[in-house]
Amino acid sequence: MSIRKAQSFINGEWLTTDREKQEIKNPFTGEVIGEQYFAQSDDVEIALATAYKGKKQVKNIPIIERSKILKKAAYLLEENKEKFAKLLSSELGKPLKDTLGEVDRSIETLELSGEEAKRLHGETIPGSSSERGLNTIASIYRVPVGVVAAITPFNAPLNLVCHKVGPAFAGGNVTLLKPAPQTTLIATAFLQLLFEAGFPKNAIHMLLGGVDVGQQIVKDERINVISFTGGLVASRNISQIAGIKKTLFELGGNAATIVHQDADIETAARLCAKTGYSNSGQSCISVQRIYVQEEIKDNFIELLKQEVSKLKVGDPLDPHTDIGTLVDEKAAGRVIEWINEAVESGAEIIQGGTKNGASVEPTVLFNPPKKSKVVCEEVFGPIVSVIPYKNIEEAIQESNDSPFGLQTGIFTNQIDLAYRVADEMEVGGIVINGTSNFRLDHLPYGGVKNSGIGREGPRYALEEMTESKMVVLRV
Ligand code: SIN
Repeated sequence: MSIRKAQSFINGEWLTTDREKQEIKNPFTGEVIGEQYFAQSDDVEIALATAYKGKKQVKNIPIIERSKILKKAAYLLEENKEKFAKLLSSELGKPLKDTLGEVDRSIETLELSGEEAKRLHGETIPGSSSERGLNTIASIYRVPVGVVAAITPFNAPLNLVCHKVGPAFAGGNVTLLKPAPQTTLIATAFLQLLFEAGFPKNAIHMLLGGVDVGQQIVKDERINVISFTGGLVASRNISQIAGIKKTLFELGGNAATIVHQDADIETAARLCAKTGYSNSGQSCISVQRIYVQEEIKDNFIELLKQEVSKLKVGDPLDPHTDIGTLVDEKAAGRVIEWINEAVESGAEIIQGGTKNGASVEPTVLFNPPKKSKVVCEEVFGPIVSVIPYKNIEEAIQESNDSPFGLQTGIFTNQIDLAYRVADEMEVGGIVINGTSNFRLDHLPYGGVKNSGIGREGPRYALEEMTESKMVVLRV
């Protein structure tokens, strides 16, 4: 895809390029692959004003039309799959294997949004459960909230945009999108594709920029719902300035996966290696802490080492590469600092531990202390820590001893034990005989504690991005 300019889109037009310019570099080669132009404060004001003004028109677009547009966008993405995947790999350093998968998931997310648009039903409630309600009937409709601010991260910059724009439009809302500044070429390409699919130009505005642009959006009273995916610090700032509006947060995690003594440890090792390092660990549910029952620890570590050593680190555009780069070299440097901190406080490096440019070797640590950053904070890098436990109570307690609670995995052959763990785990989702890093786009996705508020997945996001309206009839 030859797109080289990332631009904001407001009031039906792409913004001109006489604004603050930033170079966009391929994190693997360091080559400049494009440039982006940040929106100014008056651009943000125009976007907010036109988004607000467009609410009524977008609400009135028939549901069948919204549904068809979303499905057409899915079809066009299928037609352009390779181009989108290559652009994603060049801009983000995510291997082609993974970006092809991300495009597939984005297609599904758009299709699901188009389908769910048609399933948004209300209900009818008789009034006669109350003495005062005799001879009344209430109809409950679902109506659009109005304007949805969608603030998206760099790590899955196509699918996570689809997870917000899809349900927002399906529900009849205007979207004001602020994509991560690291991945604006893909966001620009996606908007172009939406318009080719017939997406109305007054139903979406996109603002490129940094924190100042984000703050101006979230503070504004013309925004009805903020749907944010990103870090905890940013979510706290949003909460402080957002005022009275619904905020949906899909935040981070330090996901645990438990490998119990009766587990199929070959499968567990294979899946932990596959899903602990994909996209260089830059996923909120990436396997970060593996709790392994003491008796099987040595065998498991041996198998994990074998699986990790099969992973090929290299050029993200090479179809054989498993591990590309982190989003930039600064992120890689921070990951190495965290490894060093863990080692200085007593962890053992079993594998990896070095960096080359923006790439970090897949790293396995053994038994880092509880207080080390690799255990208690979100790594967002290719580090997995193996921590032994004696009994399942201890594994549950250690896994839950976290400010986060997004997803967990448990490998065991005992179904009753698996369900007991599922019940006791403080998370939004748990995978039995799989790792924490498993998501199907139609399922509810989100966390508890510091991992977020609300759920994504088109059906659930559509609920969040619409509200009920009650109409009472006295008969
Ligand atoms: C995330 O990082 O939360 C996205 C994970 C995914 O969609 O697989």
